[in-house]
Amino acid sequence: MRNQGKFLAQFLNEKVRQDSGLEADLAALIGEIATICKSLSYAIRAGSLEGVLGTAGTENVQGETQQKLDVFANEAMLDSLGVSEHLAGMASEELTDIHPVSAGHSRGRYLLIFDPLDGSSNIDVNVSVGTIFSVLPAPSGGGELTAQHFLQPGREQVCAGYALYGPSTMLVLTTGSGVDAFTLDPRVGEFVLTHPQRQIPADTREFAVNMSNQRFWEPPMQRYIKECLEGSTGPRGKDFNMRWVASMVAEVHRVLSRGGIFMYPYDSREPGRPGRLRLMYEASPMAMLVEQAGGSASTGYKRMLDVQPDDLHQRVPVILGSRNEVAQVISYHTQAAAEAAN
Ligand code: F6P
Repeated sequence: MRNQGKFLAQFLNEKVRQDSGLEADLAALIGEIATICKSLSYAIRAGSLEGVLGTAGTENVQGETQQKLDVFANEAMLDSLGVSEHLAGMASEELTDIHPVSAGHSRGRYLLIFDPLDGSSNIDVNVSVGTIFSVLPAPSGGGELTAQHFLQPGREQVCAGYALYGPSTMLVLTTGSGVDAFTLDPRVGEFVLTHPQRQIPADTREFAVNMSNQRFWEPPMQRYIKECLEGSTGPRGKDFNMRWVASMVAEVHRVLSRGGIFMYPYDSREPGRPGRLRLMYEASPMAMLVEQAGGSASTGYKRMLDVQPDDLHQRVPVILGSRNEVAQVISYHTQAAAEAAN
């Protein structure tokens, strides 16, 4: 039996009409992004039948091997949104530089930055992947659009979201008034509001981290995980569960669904690299979603949404999720910094 929730378009139109602060052109842009996510969902679902799996044999700007689906998803976003009258430009994990949009109309009011296919190491093993996006205000007035215009801290985002291509396809969105989640109904080809106003529980007993990097972490992270592993007989006085999908979208979706803490902290494998995840199209949009659902997101030392980017592809340590647990990790970082300063 079909869930009788609102279609995404109905939800957005209603929000615009209610004068909730959602501008009509942003609502239209979200509709365009959702359409591409639907088409990506169908391609991913078809998998080998569509010939979209396997490596593309190329490297992206970060020196990572591109999967065919990375390239396909990136091109789908650029082609479809390259004619959007709501955009001034785009940037992507897969592009070295920005991609201005000027399809014979005046410059749109927004900038879009995205990871077209997050978690792509999971594609070939049929595990969930996703598309992450962040919408920022474009500069008003004329002049050439540059990468500099994109380098805004996450608190400036007007919309953030992701599509999760899992057992069902979901679109999870915020425009600054809570987080709403929609499920793609494949029978009608529309996203339906199934999980309005998500809230992350403040406490959790579940952490997600790539434990194989443990020996490279800084002392505050070592301490936090050690105490979690000591469970009910340790200082935390409770047992923890661990999850690691290696797909940030799936990981954040779990946190938004039942709480938890997700971490990809700084590690010393490549000392010059401040973290693994990218600030502008992974950490910032996820931080906005998590904060809008009542959670927190930090680098360990700073609120994620206040980090000023200095590069489109900048990396950052990420700690996000249930707010009391994130506060615990931050307190260990603060304490370690204070001890180091003395
Ligand atoms: O940045 C891409 C990504 O695949 C994330 O989605 C995920 O959280 C992380 O990298 C997985 O990293 P690792 O391969 O170290 O587990």
